[in-house]
Amino acid sequence: MGQSILLGISGGIAAYKSVDLVRRLREHGHIVRVVMTQAAQSFVTPLTFQAISGHPVGCNLLDAASEAAMDHISLARFAERVIIAPASANIMARLAHGMANDLLTSVCLATTAPITLVPAMNHRMWHNPITQANIARLQQFGFTLWGPTEGAQACGEYGLGRMLEPEEIVRCLESTAPIMTSPLAGKNIIITAGPTREPLDAIRFISNRSSGKMGYALAVAAQHYGAHVTLISGPVALPQPNHVRLVKVETALEMQQAVIQHLPQGDIFIGAAAVADFRPETSSTHKYAKDELSTTLALTLNPDIIETVTQFLPRPFTIGFAAQTHDVKLHAIRKLTEKNMDVIIANQVGLAEGGFDSDVNTVDIYSRDGQTHFPCQPKTTLAYQLIKWIGDYYGAQKI
Ligand code: PMT
Repeated sequence: MGQSILLGISGGIAAYKSVDLVRRLREHGHIVRVVMTQAAQSFVTPLTFQAISGHPVGCNLLDAASEAAMDHISLARFAERVIIAPASANIMARLAHGMANDLLTSVCLATTAPITLVPAMNHRMWHNPITQANIARLQQFGFTLWGPTEGAQACGEYGLGRMLEPEEIVRCLESTAPIMTSPLAGKNIIITAGPTREPLDAIRFISNRSSGKMGYALAVAAQHYGAHVTLISGPVALPQPNHVRLVKVETALEMQQAVIQHLPQGDIFIGAAAVADFRPETSSTHKYAKDELSTTLALTLNPDIIETVTQFLPRPFTIGFAAQTHDVKLHAIRKLTEKNMDVIIANQVGLAEGGFDSDVNTVDIYSRDGQTHFPCQPKTTLAYQLIKWIGDYYGAQKI
């Protein structure tokens, strides 16, 4: 069913692609109204978007004529969904700080509709910690992100920062549109994320490189698909996702306890955490002096949380991850069977990109029905595709 979409265009060469985006959105039955920033008008004229959308284009906040026709409050009310494509580093910085210094930012502050950003910028600007902090802040406020992707950039460089193609944006929209009709709607999903920390003393611990990005992105996507999400997270530096119940833990034993506590309400369990397999046999609440420490560390095995889950009755639909440096498929299938999971999502780790502490990932899903490949992309968009796949597969199992 068509939606009333407010398409925001900010300044970037990718603005030319948004002309095709408007055409495609209209072909899919959506009503599209366009709002352009001043910088966007240097790349494509408002007249082009007026012709292609069939509606006047909003450009100025303080323009008497356009305010009378469709002021920023009316535009905010019109929007069932706001998509900003391209979303420049500048518009994201302004939105992250609640600025309302043009029509687009004012509409975004005034609307209650979900807002999605489709970033486009030079890869160095994208990776800049200031941009990343703005994105994290926006996600904390419920903004979603589609893309960017990696590839050749208009500036002649190569990297992560290309805007998704119009057809990919439409596909993202289609996969989030039927949210409430997803088999996941109303289901309780428990997701583990991040590393665990296994203390040796008051300040030292064993841990791993997991950032929590994959698990948090899955939690956000599952919530958008209508699920009630409990996110059980080891120590990470990520903001709490909106509308997700967050349970913070440190150790594998604490994570296991939190999982057990929430299992009776769980329909689906997703183990994205990198749980430490071992912990120091003994630990101290004070800091060991150098001469108190042995050069040999005695370890003891931690419980396997996935196995706790699959032995629980009634057993939730169980999805694990396999993080492997080699023979990925072989190990993934072995773990799927040995741990009695329904589905396993395998990612290769130890490469320059993807897996642990990376913004992107490449995965393969293995189930008893075969293998599905998901190419390298940001964890934020991958998560939507994985959750869509999980919803469809889970729905089919239930029938
Ligand atoms: O957090 P990011 O930086 O975004 O990185 C994401 C990720 C690489 C951590 C994630 O995609 C991932 O692969 N998570 C699982 C990592 C892992 O521990 O894999 P494993 O092959 O060792 O374990 C297999 C499964 O058993 C996992 O679902 C794991 O959560 C679970 N497990 C492992 C050990 C244990 N004691 N208890 C468990 O439940």
